[in-house]
Amino acid sequence: MSELRTVTVETSPPYTVFVGPNALAASTDTLAAASALIADERVFDLFGDSPALSELPRHLLPEGEAAKTISQLERALNFLCEEALDRSASIIALGGGAATDLGGLAAAMYLRGVSWIACPTTLLAMVDASVGGKTAVNLESGKNLAGSFHQPSAVIADTTALMTLSSTEYSSGLGEVLKTALIEGEELLALLEANVTAIVTRHADVMADVICRCVQTKARVVAADPLEAEQRKVLNLGHTFAHAIEQAAGHGVIPHGVAVAAGCGVALEAAAAAGLLQDAALPERIRALSRDLGLPADLAELRDSTGCALPADELIAAMRHDKKSVAGAPRFVLPRAAGDLALDVDLDPTPHLS
Ligand SMILES: NC(=O)c1ccc[n+]([C@@H]2O[C@H](COP(=O)([O-])OP(=O)(O)OC[C@H]3O[C@@H](n4cnc5c(N)ncnc54)[C@H](O)[C@@H]3O)[C@@H](O)[C@H]2O)c1
Repeated sequence: MSELRTVTVETSPPYTVFVGPNALAASTDTLAAASALIADERVFDLFGDSPALSELPRHLLPEGEAAKTISQLERALNFLCEEALDRSASIIALGGGAATDLGGLAAAMYLRGVSWIACPTTLLAMVDASVGGKTAVNLESGKNLAGSFHQPSAVIADTTALMTLSSTEYSSGLGEVLKTALIEGEELLALLEANVTAIVTRHADVMADVICRCVQTKARVVAADPLEAEQRKVLNLGHTFAHAIEQAAGHGVIPHGVAVAAGCGVALEAAAAAGLLQDAALPERIRALSRDLGLPADLAELRDSTGCALPADELIAAMRHDKKSVAGAPRFVLPRAAGDLALDVDLDPTPHLS
């Protein structure tokens, strides 16, 4: 069994992210402190027989986004009450970002907060959702509108789990990896470019390296800005476009990370047009990498690959209602170069949406 990689997230208190093949089986000491398991039901069917998990009292969530409702939150909290867990309890949340968001929020609320361990099983949850302490459920009015900041006590990212992910879910995670490379800079970009085949075929060791680098980037940003005041805005690269794309397509039609990849392409185009881009070769480089990873490099490719019309006027209307808009004017994170981003850019996106 190869050694697990570790990344420390320097929040207060700090916590460790363990990454690697068979990380769940190798983390029995960390998991031994847990009192209960909240898991995506599909993921539990796949990985629940792991010795550290199978003996715990468990509560299963409907798979994916269906877990992130107020009524599912209430059920999870009632389960914790029925188990009579006290304030020393520690809860494992197992699954993709939906299960870690719901499990983390239940931990934040139960008895005003008990500790939790995130065990992400999608690529997106490993590189993004499980690190940083944001937890949430959806409301009728929109996604992630009720939640809390509640850092986990540890994160265990078992890269073996990537093998059972659907290609759609895997691509979605790759979109966030690509975004992270634009935030982080040359080293991660070069790592991706040098390992395209291993990444596309989900090589567990190579993916452990890639995930580790992405987690280091997110950990650095989160530690500097635990409550999302300013620096965390860099993580929104491509997201103003992506949220508009997801809304115009109908939620769930285009995977989030795939929309983010196209959004990064649009952000590069907008940065060049606004005269912000300092590395003229970057758009072509990202375009080539996106294609190698099977991701859309821009809106035209996204429209072609999904068959979604994504009319410019609908995208603009969605952006005006974006949570991060200021007085109805969307604000953008745009790349100057890999690793160097401009925040809060106020521009008319219309020319880049046709
Ligand atoms: N808290 C944060 O900072 C943050 C960041 C990004 C995204 N999110 C949230 O994450 C959610 C999306 O998470 P996601 O993309 O991980 O998807 P998901 O949790 O909805 O899971 C997608 C599907 O994959 C299945 N699945 C999970 N792991 C699997 C595995 N190893 N093998 C086979 N199937 C598996 C699930 O059963 C589900 O059907 C959204 O609700 C989003 O709001 C949160």
